[in-house]
Amino acid sequence: MNSSQKYQTNLKSIFGAFDAFTMWKGRVALYAILRVLGIGKGDEVILPGYTCVMDVNPVKYVGANPVYVDIEPDTFNMDVSLLEQAITPNTKLIIAQHTYGYVCDMDELMGIAEKYGVTVIEDCCLCVGSTYKGKLAGTFGIASYFSGQWNKPFTTGIGGMVTCNDENVAQDIQELCENELIKPSFKEVLMLQAQLWVYKALIYPRTTALAQNLFRWLTKKGIVVGSSSNEEFEPKMPENFFKAMSSVQAKEGVKKMKSLEANIEHRKKMSSFYDELLGNKGWGIRQFDSSKQDPVMVRYPVRVKDKQKAIEDAAKHGIELGTWFECALHPIETPLEKYDYEIGMCPVADKACEQVVNLPLHTRVSKKTARRTVDFITKYCEEAFA
Ligand SMILES: Cc1ncc(COP(=O)(O)O)c(C=O)c1O
Repeated sequence: MNSSQKYQTNLKSIFGAFDAFTMWKGRVALYAILRVLGIGKGDEVILPGYTCVMDVNPVKYVGANPVYVDIEPDTFNMDVSLLEQAITPNTKLIIAQHTYGYVCDMDELMGIAEKYGVTVIEDCCLCVGSTYKGKLAGTFGIASYFSGQWNKPFTTGIGGMVTCNDENVAQDIQELCENELIKPSFKEVLMLQAQLWVYKALIYPRTTALAQNLFRWLTKKGIVVGSSSNEEFEPKMPENFFKAMSSVQAKEGVKKMKSLEANIEHRKKMSSFYDELLGNKGWGIRQFDSSKQDPVMVRYPVRVKDKQKAIEDAAKHGIELGTWFECALHPIETPLEKYDYEIGMCPVADKACEQVVNLPLHTRVSKKTARRTVDFITKYCEEAFA
């Protein structure tokens, strides 16, 4: 068994899926799903107006129209009470994006989808290990996709995976991959390997902001394999987009699967610790329905009054602070109009973009880091507010 097959077998068994596939990035995985589901020109795809533009690109690439539904303020997931009114005769797909690790309200969402005969897939790029009524996120829809990008729940540098719960869809993805997936170049694989070593050496809570700036600069110079290229801020598919996962990524994936349980435990423990620290300071802590879900957070979202200043100061003080999401279709550089989004379409999401920063939870975050981070961030708001 080669490393890709091993990784796919691991994913299949963790998610109890019928089949699993590995690809270059999460966006490539979504593209594959859209293609085999026959989503195309004029079709409408519903997703939250609080996402990454790289998640919208594949929808555009196949000629479909994204339809954005606002989020609810506590879990930042699609507000399912608004879902029904977004459905039209052209709606072909709902993407249930589990944001920050919170699971969407799957009972409601699946019920509405079933009522209108609309297919559901799950975006698990920010959510690995969370459960809803005891069932793993990623096992509700016909297929799910995951990301192995460096700041996701577990990383292979970059990476994309599909798990699939339907035999026909699985067969079609297999065929699509055999016929159309291209191999990454030798140079790309070499650069990615070097990056993985650099990540291991450099990405610590105190150095992340610095490393991130360096990484962005090197990406612009074409020295590293970036998470996104400039041409991906246009809704037009770049050449060589539909790329396979390299063996370097697959080997790293197999390794990461071995420590997945510990990773999940760490994230849960640290999230509770943040709850405790923030709660002690009278701050708003996570709000979710614990009778329904047990989330595994990728990052811990908090609201601040001056996001821009908090981010600038965090970088100066060696505090790791995430900016997800800077606008409805992250990052801030996205030309929203090209993606059919207008400010005000999803007001709760727009407000979250202005206020939310996120605290790190990856495996190198210690209690000491959490204390430092909370001491820092609570200066940016005098009192808790929702
Ligand atoms: C919610 C969400 N979905 C999908 C993606 C795409 O993942 P990838 O970067 O692996 O293509 C991202 C981020 O980049 C994301 O934040």
